[in-house]
Amino acid sequence: MIKTIRWVDDAVVMIDQRVLPHREEYLTCRDYQDVVSAIKTMAIRGAPAVGIAAAMGIALGFSAVSVHTEKDQKTYFCRICDDLSKTRPTAVNLFWAIERMKRCFEKSLPSGVDSVKKALKEEAIKICREDIEANREMGRRGRDFIKDGASILTHCNAGALATGGYGTALGVIRAAREEGKNIHVFVDETRPVLQGARLTAWELKKENIPATLIVDNVAGSLMREGRIDLVIVGADRIAANGDTANKIGTYPLAVLAAENNVPFYVAAPTSTIDRGVRHGDDIPIEERSADEVLGVYGTKIAPDRTVVFNPAFDVTPNRYIKAIITETGVATPPFDESIDKLFHD
Ligand code: MRU
Repeated sequence: MIKTIRWVDDAVVMIDQRVLPHREEYLTCRDYQDVVSAIKTMAIRGAPAVGIAAAMGIALGFSAVSVHTEKDQKTYFCRICDDLSKTRPTAVNLFWAIERMKRCFEKSLPSGVDSVKKALKEEAIKICREDIEANREMGRRGRDFIKDGASILTHCNAGALATGGYGTALGVIRAAREEGKNIHVFVDETRPVLQGARLTAWELKKENIPATLIVDNVAGSLMREGRIDLVIVGADRIAANGDTANKIGTYPLAVLAAENNVPFYVAAPTSTIDRGVRHGDDIPIEERSADEVLGVYGTKIAPDRTVVFNPAFDVTPNRYIKAIITETGVATPPFDESIDKLFHD
């Protein structure tokens, strides 16, 4: 099993996704600032994995606290949370995890600093464990959408590497495969950071799931030729009405899927749903460095000083989405109602 992120002794250890697939190296974070930097530089990425990293970062940061008054502990704790909250703006799992750690902190505070340290560490490990369980449940709920012999298109990496383990969209694909279904996955390379080429292709190869890597521009003609049976992707933030932010390039895929009558599915844990955001226009979209576009692996591909626009995510309007697969149920249109139900049943 791929070990995306773990608590080991007094450190947080994560597979360094910047150097995959060529090198399998592990990054040891001994200080919460190491975690801040790992998230910013995408050593760890993918919405649920970023949330887990933030939770472990908070526990790690607070484990170093030596102040004793509750007031000082609170100040220190808030500084850690604040630094982690500024790492990446789009994936709501980050903020969800910080809020959960804040509740754990408040609850354990009256029991003394050592109890707080212990409680935070346990909570972070629990968030990771629950995420893996949620992914497996999504797999069970989503695998029926994949028929034997299906040809599937996916974008970016929504696999074990993007989560505590197993994966969301890739988890559903894994679950279909585990049932013995004969499937084939087309993997979008996912410019500019190449999560598809570097990470999804690597995961599928490890699992012996038949896959073909394509450049992002190929998806449309494959769909028009009838060679894709379904599209399944993960999500970084889902609004209350089902509008879904995911890796840049997801929206055009959804439009192409609608044009070609190909069902388009989203798989994500309920921690990715932000009911505080009513529709997709209110989801903050991260813009990343021009360097990601100007070069590949340190080789320049555009003239110096070329102006670049590099949004990391886009929003797919709910009307293009056939179903949102979560661990508590499968939401279908109209999403305002079905998403609400995911939190009440
Ligand atoms: O910029 P990234 O690599 O963090 O973006 C990741 C994605 O867009 C994934 O599709 C999404 O987080 C779902 S991961 C289960």
